[in-house]
This record gives sequence, structure tokens and C-alpha cells, in this order.
Amino acid sequence: MTEPSWKRFPVVVTGGAGFIGSNFVLEWLEGAPGTAQPLVNVDCLTYAGNLKNLERVRAHPGYKFVRADICDRARLDALLEEHRPRAIVHFAAESHVDRSILGPDAFVETNVRGTFVLLEAARAYWNRLAGPERAGFRFLHVSTDEVYGSLGADDPAFCETTPYSPNSPYSATKAASDHLVRAYFHTYGLPTMITNCSNNYGPYHFPEKLIPLIITHALEGKPLPIYGDGMNVRDWLYVGDHCAALRLVLEKGRPGETYNIGGRNERSNREVVETICEILDELRPGSPHCPHKQLIRFVKDRPGHDRRYAIDATKLERELGWRALETFSTGLRKTVEWYLANPEWIADVLSGAYRKWIEQNYDGRDDDGRATEQARAGQHRVEE
Ligand code: NAD
Ligand code: TYD
Repeated sequence: MTEPSWKRFPVVVTGGAGFIGSNFVLEWLEGAPGTAQPLVNVDCLTYAGNLKNLERVRAHPGYKFVRADICDRARLDALLEEHRPRAIVHFAAESHVDRSILGPDAFVETNVRGTFVLLEAARAYWNRLAGPERAGFRFLHVSTDEVYGSLGADDPAFCETTPYSPNSPYSATKAASDHLVRAYFHTYGLPTMITNCSNNYGPYHFPEKLIPLIITHALEGKPLPIYGDGMNVRDWLYVGDHCAALRLVLEKGRPGETYNIGGRNERSNREVVETICEILDELRPGSPHCPHKQLIRFVKDRPGHDRRYAIDATKLERELGWRALETFSTGLRKTVEWYLANPEWIADVLSGAYRKWIEQNYDGRDDDGRATEQARAGQHRVEE
């Protein structure tokens, strides 16, 4: 059966030069199921945006890159009019919790105002559509499980009806953006969908986040910083599984609905770091830094550090038939192997600006080894 003609219109992706966005763009253009349409990537290239992630598709006939800020309404209006997308998949955001603590302004600007401006542009564009183009249009907002707040050890995992309770400037601004997206469906009928996903990991992950930071530090023999007692729990999902879920929601999800995405892979940070060390010991047995666990340092905790996240993805599994393909152990090994195979990408990313961030975030955290001692003794740190 041939596709209806409006379905061949492009998909606009925002933030496609970042970690998850670039994985999504690569998979889309390299032929993941149901993706035979062109794609326009709109990204303003902040420190987190990297066109090197997209080298493989730079010359792809179905790919176009537009450098634009989602806060720029005139640019958005013009590019929607020019490309006439059948959908917008919205990844663009400031995404790092530690940065949101040290400088929340950019988070309010991009995550709240940027999403608002994009919604307004999408609404104006959608209002000009008619017939099947209008009926088929979708706005998919990519969000996080962090909007739900922090779980206790025995609490049930977050489901789509869990009340919002964001604790960091990052999660608060993502929550605000989710509320706006929801309101545009209820008030204006804009066919929006929201996904709330757990922590991702995989290729092209910027090494300010835990997993790539630990891999890149371990390769260089640098300290491996674990915040607090290391017993905070995250629910890890391989980025390819997240992208597959997003494609499914885009095609089969119901407007106005939220879908939680997660792979039921809860791990403490300590376990994650130790597992990476073990994989590196095995893959790099000749390294002078073996055993890599000797590099672990327990450092001063993140303020307001959420204790545990866990996602219940039953709705996505039951209604849309999604299943994660990677376990934590297969996904993590793949990820470490990718970093080992891509030293040029790492060298390029670890530029001057990145080094400055590492100094800003980690200098002064190592409080005389007391955190290390307490974590070793299995005690919780006493906040200062
Ligand atoms: P990222 O920080 O790696 O990439 C963000 C991208 O957005 C970058 O390419 C950046 O240049 C671009 N961008 C930022 N501000 C922009 C603006 N004003 N205009 C245009 N482009 C802009 O983020 P990521 O980890 O790939 O996350 C993507 C999305 O997924 C975010 O919305 C995030 O909240 C969400 N999410 C992330 C995770 C995770 O574990 N990383 C988990 C769940 C949800
Ligand atoms: P991160 O990758 O920043 O994701 P998020 O804060 O969005 O969950 O951090 C994952 C976990 O790892 C979180 O509990 C904080 C912790 N962490 C460390 O222990 N050390 C670090 O150097 C970093 C960056 C994070």
C-alpha cells in the first residue's frame, strides 16, 4: 500500500545535534522502520550541539540542517512555511541538572519560553493546514521522568498519572514545558503528545553526564566522582530504545496522551560506575589505570539530589507494543565499546569550554576525603 502524499512531508526535529536528537536523526535517515520521509533538523548549536554527531548523514538527500533558536518566532514561522512538516519532534532543551543549579536562566529561556514560542509557531502553522495534512499533524514533546520528583526505596515506579513534583531548576522548567504542551491540546486542539523518559545512555552522549564522564575520565586515569553516598538510583535506557519508542508514539500515539518510557533497569550510581570500571578492565587489560575502581572518589553531593527515579512503561508496552531491546548490560558494553572506538570524537568534545565546566562543577567538591570515608563505611553523608 502506498503512503498518503501528506505523509511524505518532512518531519522537523528540534535539538537534533544533541545526544538523543542526533541518535534519532541518524536512525531516521538510515532507515529505521517507518521513516521514509525527509527530516529538517533545527538546532542553534549550544555547547551541547555537535554537528560531528551527524557527519554520516550530512550529504543525505533527505536531510537539511537549519541553525536557528527555538525562541526566534520569525525564524520558526518561516521554516515551517517553507518545509511544511507533517510533524515536529521537540528535543531542544538545556538538559543538565548540575548546570541548571549553577545557572538556571538558560533553562527558563529555552525549556519554558522556547517551548512556548515553538508551540505558538506550530499552532499558527497547523491552523493554516486543511484536510488530511491538518488531521495528521503531530507535535511530539520529548520530556523526562524527572518532572515526577524523587521516589523512596519502596515506592512504585512513576506512571502517567503520578503527580508532578519537580525538584531541580531543570526538572521544573521541563515540567512547565509539559504543562504548556498539555494546555495547547486542551485549549486549542493542537495534536500534541508528551513522552517522559528515564535516563538515557549510548553513543554521542556529552561527557558532562554520569556515564560518558566516567568512561572518558577512566580512560585518562582521572578521578571518577560519585556524588554523596553513591546510592542514588536511576532507571537507565539505551538511547536507541528511546528513539524506537518515539517513532512508535509519533506514528501510533493518541493526541493528548502522555507515554512513559523506561527499560526497568534501576541501578545505583555506585553500581553503574563500578560496572563501567569492570568493563574497561576487561577491554583495556593493559591500561596503567587497572583496576579502574581505584580511581573512584566520593565527592560532595549535588544540592537537592533526587534519590530515586523509576519508570513504569506498561502503557507504552500494552497500547503500542514497545519493548526495550537492550538490557543494561548489553547497552552499557556497546556504549563503552563506542567510546573506545571513537577517540577523535572524544578529543574534539573535550575542548576548552568543556574543561572550564569540569573546573566549575568539581573544584571544591572533594571535601578532604570525608565523603569517601563515609561512603565506604556505608554511611550517608551529613549535609554541610
Ligand atoms: P542535549 O543537551 O544533549 O541536546 C540538546 C540540544 O538542543 C543541543 O543540540 C542544543 O544545541 C539544542 N538546543 C538547546 N537550546 C536550543 C535552542 N534555544 N534552540 C535550538 N536548539 C537548542 O540533550 P539530550 O540529552 O539529547 O536531551 C534531549 C531532550 O530529551 C531534552 O528535551 C531532554 O529534556 C529530554 N530527555 C533527556 C534524557 C537524557 O537522559 N539525556 C532523558 C529523558 C528526556
Ligand atoms: P546525570 O547523568 O547528570 O543525570 P540526572 O541528574 O539527570 O539523573 O547524573 C546521573 C546520576 O549520577 C545522578 O544521580 C547524579 C550522579 N552523578 C555523579 O554521581 N557524579 C557525577 O559526576 C555526575 C555528573 C552525576
